[in-house]
Amino acid sequence: MKGRVALVTGGSRGIGRAIALKLSSLGADVAILYAGREDAAREAVGLLERQGSRALAIQCDVSDYRQAEAAVKQVAETLGNVDILINNAGIVRDALAMRMSPEDFAAVVDVNLNGAFHMIRACLPALVRRRSGRIVNITSVAGLMGNAGQANYASSKAGLVGLTKAIAREVASRGITVNAVAPGFIETDMTGSMAPATLEKGISAVPMGRIGSVEDVANAVAFLAGDGAGYITGCVLKVDGGMYI
Ligand code: NAI
Repeated sequence: MKGRVALVTGGSRGIGRAIALKLSSLGADVAILYAGREDAAREAVGLLERQGSRALAIQCDVSDYRQAEAAVKQVAETLGNVDILINNAGIVRDALAMRMSPEDFAAVVDVNLNGAFHMIRACLPALVRRRSGRIVNITSVAGLMGNAGQANYASSKAGLVGLTKAIAREVASRGITVNAVAPGFIETDMTGSMAPATLEKGISAVPMGRIGSVEDVANAVAFLAGDGAGYITGCVLKVDGGMYI
């Protein structure tokens, strides 16, 4: 990936940070977008630079199209046009549907689904001009199976699957591939905030019997973002220890 520029949303921690580090270890220069924690973003940039990459962190709320567009422009001016876009930023606001506020439904869709569209919309013109590129959207097994208490999250992640397939069809002839990775239970802040009993119940539904690591997800993303996956588009690759089987 030497000479390529990757942009990872939500790259300051968790799965996004592992993806950023993996792409950097393969030679890419990496920009990360983050929502709020500047200290974590700065630390991630330090790690990326130590691996020999040019790196940049931009505070950007991907649910706001103008911010997304400005961030993509800043990356282009600083590192070069984006070759690899990873839509990883995501939030949860869990509640049973009967108690979920319309605002909490909309907020999750705004970040997880609209945010990914905003980033794709902002990056596509330059990708199409160069007739090459990779887009990987991080969805979730919850978007494929549904999950009680996650009507907003599951809807946003199922929407990401539709978005992935629609854009894949639109840009296939331009040398751009668009795929999704669907993690199951992965050890991050997101799962760390779950009630222990809920988490335990979730892991008991995993045939491999263990929680996944952020590297498990990053390896799958790196494959889809690399040259070896040139004939793969519109696919949803599950990284879930067999949970969906
Ligand atoms: P996390 O909560 O540790 O990190 C989320 C990242 O998204 C942070 O860097 C945060 O700054 C960023 N972010 C949040 N809102 C944003 C916004 N409006 N604009 C820009 N960035 C924003 O989450 P984790 O666990 O690393 O998850 C990463 C992705 O993987 C998410 O899309 C999540 O839905 C998905 N996922 C996670 C699973 C898990 O078990 N941890 C399972 C399946 C999918």
